[in-house]
Amino acid sequence: MSRIQTLQGQKALVTGGASGIGRAIATAFIHEGADVVILDRDSATAQAASESIGAVGFVTADVAVREEVASAVRVAEDKLGSIDILVNAAGIVSESPMVDMPFAQWEQMLAIDLTSVFLVCQSVVPGMLDRGHGRVINIASQLAIKGGSAVSHYAAAKAGVIGFTKSLALEVAGAGVLVNAIAPGPIETPLLNDLGEDWIAAKRAELPLGRFGRPEEVAPTAVLLASSPGGNLYVGQTLGPNSGDVMP
Ligand SMILES: NC(=O)c1ccc[n+]([C@@H]2O[C@H](COP(=O)([O-])OP(=O)(O)OC[C@H]3O[C@@H](n4cnc5c(N)ncnc54)[C@H](O)[C@@H]3O)[C@@H](O)[C@H]2O)c1
Repeated sequence: MSRIQTLQGQKALVTGGASGIGRAIATAFIHEGADVVILDRDSATAQAASESIGAVGFVTADVAVREEVASAVRVAEDKLGSIDILVNAAGIVSESPMVDMPFAQWEQMLAIDLTSVFLVCQSVVPGMLDRGHGRVINIASQLAIKGGSAVSHYAAAKAGVIGFTKSLALEVAGAGVLVNAIAPGPIETPLLNDLGEDWIAAKRAELPLGRFGRPEEVAPTAVLLASSPGGNLYVGQTLGPNSGDVMP
């Protein structure tokens, strides 16, 4: 007997889907029967990921650039028909003590890790409201809750994502669109290459579980939030697959 796929027939757009957590979520969604389009910034990487995981296709955009996002979302909607599930996973990290941080570094972080979530949601959520259903999953970080040395810009952007998630959830839940966040702990992805070895060693030593997570250990949380009935009662929540780094 064939297995029941929890996202059968669902159409999903996953930003940052060419790598790491976004790619693992896209893969898990496809495994659960969804049609997935990846949105990422580099077309060669996005195409390779799309082909490798069996996505419907890919679109390219810098998620921090409003016009690029709007046109990429239109192309994604053409490929999928409509978007039932949106995952905002595109993001960057960098490291600097606050007092030394160039303003451009702060601005870049806020643009890519926070403003992008607003831009993509503003392009995708109206269609969900028209159809009376949808799921939005924003990838935040446990650093939004805990803070972290040399990542004030990142923690601020991700805290913004959590506040944005709660507020949008309040606005649209009554119209059938459920908005939630996932705040992972440290996960083994290429993102960590942008943090120093000392930062990583100190973080690992803090973790009750004693190890970083893997992207495929985050993806099932996204499947839960995207699925019915599993995700039906989550509204404005922030789920924390974080190796015990934060216990709210
Ligand atoms: N890895 C971790 O430890 C960790 C922990 C908590 C939260 N997160 C968050 O998870 C998300 C995914 O990170 P990851 O660890 O999988 O990193 P990753 O580097 O493996 O993947 C990030 C993806 O986002 C894309 N991207 C980056 N900037 C973009 C832009 N301006 N426009 C379009 N695409 C862009 C990259 O090309 C890449 O494919 C990020 O939001 C990150 O902040 C990661």
